[in-house]
Amino acid sequence: GFWGLVNNAGISTFGETGWLSMEKYEKFVDVNLLGSIRTTLAFLPLLRKYKGRMVFMSSINAYCTLGNGIYSMTKAAIEKFCDSLRLEMKKFGVLVCIIQPGNYARSTNIQPPINAEQIWSELNEEEKAVYSKEYVQERADFVNKILNEGCTAGHEVVDAIMDALMSPVPKARYLVAKLKEKLLVFICTAFPTMVMDLVMSYALSKVKLT
Ligand SMILES: NC(=O)c1ccc[n+]([C@@H]2O[C@H](COP(=O)([O-])OP(=O)(O)OC[C@H]3O[C@@H](n4cnc5c(N)ncnc54)[C@H](OP(=O)(O)O)[C@@H]3O)[C@@H](O)[C@H]2O)c1
Repeated sequence: GFWGLVNNAGISTFGETGWLSMEKYEKFVDVNLLGSIRTTLAFLPLLRKYKGRMVFMSSINAYCTLGNGIYSMTKAAIEKFCDSLRLEMKKFGVLVCIIQPGNYARSTNIQPPINAEQIWSELNEEEKAVYSKEYVQERADFVNKILNEGCTAGHEVVDAIMDALMSPVPKARYLVAKLKEKLLVFICTAFPTMVMDLVMSYALSKVKLT
């Protein structure tokens, strides 16, 4: 039989909207979103036949984003894809679970340290006229600091995947994150958008456009 499908593949990057090319946006949608949809369609008949499990890797970035909108948008989209799929699959006995890890950047290869020099050298002249090199450096330092604070207990995410695959009553969503990150998700989901923007703007206020 065929029991479980784990849609794990993903890529990450950092950059304000105008810093990234259309090709990059297309690549992110292709890998992080359409990749999971491709495997879903390929294995759907087997999963229905054997009443299997489907596990999707999302992120807390589906709710909150700090300079990685290109990544967040794909995770938000996969969440909605899963919400629809979970309801549809219920009648076939196929269970759909979403894993929402916080920052585990130090446990995996998802996001190497941001190289400000490289970002600056790839910016077009229009963006260079708006942003300074110092701003790009400060943003990179800011994100690198967050990446450095990443949890090293990557097994927590693996444990959640295992539970989603093996538990007789798996959860629809596994939020695997530090308390601070869970609080952030709560703020982003339970309060008006204005509150989320205030929190995010406060975090970003340390990085000035000079
Ligand atoms: N680490 C975190 O902090 C974190 C937080 C939230 C969510 N996530 C999510 O967790 C999942 C796993 O990421 P990770 O942190 O373990 O990162 P990782 O170490 O970089 O692993 C990413 C995996 O995706 C595969 N992959 C990338 N591009 C692919 C493509 N075009 N086709 C097929 N496979 C591809 C990679 O395969 P190769 O090794 O062969 O390239 C690798 O196995 C991702 O969906 C990520 O978004 C991670």
